[in-house]
Amino acid sequence: MKCFCSVLKTQEGIIMTVRAIRGATTVNENSRKDILSSTRELLVQIKEQNNIKEDDIISIFFSLTDDLNAEFPAAAARELGWLEVALMCTKEIEIPGSLEKCIRVMVHINTNKQNFELNHVYLKNAKSLRPDIVKRNGTKKADGADMINIAIDGPAGAGKSTIAKILSKKLGVIYLDTGAMYRAVALKALRENLDTRDSKALEKMMRDINIKIEFENGEQKILLDGKNVSGKIRTKEVTIGSSNVAVVPAVRLKMVEIQRQIASEKSVVMDGRDIGSHVLPHADFKFFLNASLGERARRRYEEQIGKGMPGIIYEEVLKDIEYRDKNDSSRDYAPLVKAEDAIEIDTTNMGIDQVANKILDMVKEKNV
Ligand code: DC
Repeated sequence: MKCFCSVLKTQEGIIMTVRAIRGATTVNENSRKDILSSTRELLVQIKEQNNIKEDDIISIFFSLTDDLNAEFPAAAARELGWLEVALMCTKEIEIPGSLEKCIRVMVHINTNKQNFELNHVYLKNAKSLRPDIVKRNGTKKADGADMINIAIDGPAGAGKSTIAKILSKKLGVIYLDTGAMYRAVALKALRENLDTRDSKALEKMMRDINIKIEFENGEQKILLDGKNVSGKIRTKEVTIGSSNVAVVPAVRLKMVEIQRQIASEKSVVMDGRDIGSHVLPHADFKFFLNASLGERARRRYEEQIGKGMPGIIYEEVLKDIEYRDKNDSSRDYAPLVKAEDAIEIDTTNMGIDQVANKILDMVKEKNV
């Protein structure tokens, strides 16, 4: 449903807000062909980079500089089949010396994203209009060093934490295991005898939960209500519970706020399910690790046996992973998905060093 109100609640209880995405591009000449192809490219990029469905687009305003009049840019949207979207074309103000042959757009959408998660898109010569957006790399940390954020997502057992730890050591940046945060929430729920699928009870519990992350010699410690619970969050009950609590928007909002705060202050390798797609949409690098279900279960099984955990049965580990895969991928809010611009690596038949080196090579190549 299209709506021009400012806030909308879907049947699933997700808050949708009206937000606007800006974009601009230029054409070589004032021809129908150029105007349509450049506008089409811009609209497709805006749609893809922001994961927008046509039905969520409310309206699009287009402006053209005075030197362009061979075609209405709105025709490009109709060509894309966006027949129900309200479109409007207008002339840009003529400021002496401003960018020539420029098409600007303002796209209004219904979205559950926050403003800073949106990707404004500037192409061709229009990149000069917003260098701050086009060049996000090169952000500095408080100590003046270049900041780097690496997002690693994927299902359980794909190798995320093993690889993230290696990257963190080799690159000298911290490793944030976001799964531990959902695990700590689940631990609190279990301690309070709550059903980890009871969203109302969890929303109430989240009002006064206190989750903190500390780093000691590069090791993450997770503090729940002031106590280090890092050693208590890997049980079977907490594992299943963490996937359940992670469905609840009130839980995620609080966790994501902490995660973004950490990433804004420090270079970080962050692993999870929604890091590239939701938590750090502007991460410098995004990887999506995957492996076959059988291989992922085998790795988890051997890891748990190796830790001397009692009563570990392969079939149960496999069943738990299957349950979490489904739960994590099918939730409405920030599900487990590969971000469109993430590099996918199937680790089924790869050794740890092979995966780590492949990623390190890519990071170093782009980051020298
Ligand atoms: O990575 P892990 O196995 O420790 O994660 C535990 C659960 O937490 C996982 O099943 C889904 C959830 N999770 C999430 O929803 N989003 C994240 N960024 C990290 C974990």
